[in-house]
Amino acid sequence: MNLNIAVIAGDGIGPEIVREARKVLDRVFARFGHTAVYTDVLMGGASIDACGVPLTDEAIETCRRSDAVLMGSIGGDPRTSPWYRLDPTLRPEAGLLKIRKALGLYANLRPAYLFQELAESCPLAAREGGRSFDLIIVRELTGGLYFGERWTKVIDGQRVACDTLTYSEGEIRRVMKTAFEIARKRQGRVCSVDKANVLDSSRLWRAVAEEVAAGYPDVSLSHMFVDNAAMQLVLNPEQFDVVVTENMFGDILSDEAAEITGSIGMLSSASLNETGFGLYEPAHGSAPDIAGKNVANPIATILSAAMMLRYSFGLQEEAEAIENAVRKTLSDGFRSHDLMPRGRDADLTGLTAQSCSEMGDRVAERI
Ligand code: IPM
Ligand code: MG
Repeated sequence: MNLNIAVIAGDGIGPEIVREARKVLDRVFARFGHTAVYTDVLMGGASIDACGVPLTDEAIETCRRSDAVLMGSIGGDPRTSPWYRLDPTLRPEAGLLKIRKALGLYANLRPAYLFQELAESCPLAAREGGRSFDLIIVRELTGGLYFGERWTKVIDGQRVACDTLTYSEGEIRRVMKTAFEIARKRQGRVCSVDKANVLDSSRLWRAVAEEVAAGYPDVSLSHMFVDNAAMQLVLNPEQFDVVVTENMFGDILSDEAAEITGSIGMLSSASLNETGFGLYEPAHGSAPDIAGKNVANPIATILSAAMMLRYSFGLQEEAEAIENAVRKTLSDGFRSHDLMPRGRDADLTGLTAQSCSEMGDRVAERI
């Protein structure tokens, strides 16, 4: 295949982690006989510096014309970065929201599974002894609180701010179908997470989930309130197969799911539209505190590249080659800094701490 990939390296650790993902991709393409053309696209702070806005129309068009988009991370430290002195609609994060909306990327898939090699890094003590989990969060990505009307004004002498949470049944139905289709290829269980005891939008969410479920007799549907889901994720994550939820709940629960895999540096993601076109990015942020130090964990971005091969290009074997190389790298004892066990003498663990680029090398050489 000849692949045309738009690359948004972004800010903070973005350029470092994307470099490693490309290193691994190039190894896969060489081994399986594919060729790729990468086109760099500016977004976030990098785009503010160069163009004055977090995302230009031209950048959107470049992404639209590509076969898929691979992204690092965007944003800086709000306490020190000049980007955050701008109007909120001109901040780095606005670029990310704009591209998700412009490309119609409503289904955000965030798989969280525990590599047995990382069981000791999992903060849940119960994981030791072989119990594992393998779940995927399907987060609605272009609706809800993120895209509702918002304002701040002074009413009766005090500042008042408002954000609105709106969903149409069409928006709910399409992401629900994505969740059911995925469940079909997994264990056949969808858990829809909402706050239907309080919110109208959640009651509609639940009703549409039931309607969609009627078309999938082979998939079971359960419902859970979001506060309980947050608790169940740390108590008993193996109960989940596919979790489908609205934008903001999914943002929060996916960070929680990421952390129980050992580190937020492990969680990949795919954001898809109805044609299968996708943007692939780690679920973590730009970590400005460690940017440029070559200590970031590139695995989430490398695994996002694997998702790109699987979901946008249908290259299953190639995707598995990456996932197996990551697993082998871990089982051979290599760890990025975030994955080194804390409070223990590293010499006694038999593990080897690796820089970001070394971690990329270790994965690439195992392809
Ligand atoms: C994520 C991030 C973004 C989000 C931010 C950077 C706007 O937290 O992708 O989870 O909230 O969607
Ligand atoms: Mg988030």
